[in-house]
Amino acid sequence: MNTPVGVLLSGSGTNLQALLDAAAEGTSFRIAVVISNRRDAHGLERARQAGVPAVWIPHRGKEREAHEAELVAALREHGAEWVALAGYMRLLKTTLLAAFPQRVLNIHPALLPSFPGTHGQRQAFEYGVRIAGCTLHFVDHGTDTGPIIAQGAVPVLPDDDEDALKARILGLEHELYPRVLRWAVEGRLRIDGRRVHVDLPEGEEAFVWAR
Ligand code: GRF
Repeated sequence: MNTPVGVLLSGSGTNLQALLDAAAEGTSFRIAVVISNRRDAHGLERARQAGVPAVWIPHRGKEREAHEAELVAALREHGAEWVALAGYMRLLKTTLLAAFPQRVLNIHPALLPSFPGTHGQRQAFEYGVRIAGCTLHFVDHGTDTGPIIAQGAVPVLPDDDEDALKARILGLEHELYPRVLRWAVEGRLRIDGRRVHVDLPEGEEAFVWAR
């Protein structure tokens, strides 16, 4: 049984691609719909290529609640039971989180709680950290503040520029997101305050270290 998941994005959609590839290879989820607030998001094209419904729901000129209600309607129409944010550049504040309680995941390109918000990789690079990474977390009303599920770490190497670091982190994102989404739909995640307990499958971990 493959659980239907809705993906929200605003950009290129390489994380969506990792999820689509995992679904094509066979996993516990399938991507039921991809929604973007930007008509030109390349992620919508990736969805179409994979035969997945791609929906543009612009936010401009709308109250936040009205826009989120449209998102919820589209997610429901396509039967989504979980929501995966993959580079979705709008905060969710109202209707959507209420409609999918503890069922919205996000990926952030930094080791939270450091460097939340936009350009996490740039913030980490400019700050001069030696270890950077990405975080999979539940979405709450804050900016990248929800309970952490899994993290991946990479070194910041002496010759790195921001783009090199970004690419190294992105590789890790593509590895971790399909894994964590599978755990989610398989009911392996339990939120306990700020902590998330993961009923880990044999041989899997909630962290990755990549050089
Ligand atoms: C990634 O860096 C992700 O961590 C962040 O937005 C970016 C999306 O990239 N939330 P892509 O569109 O999946 O390539």
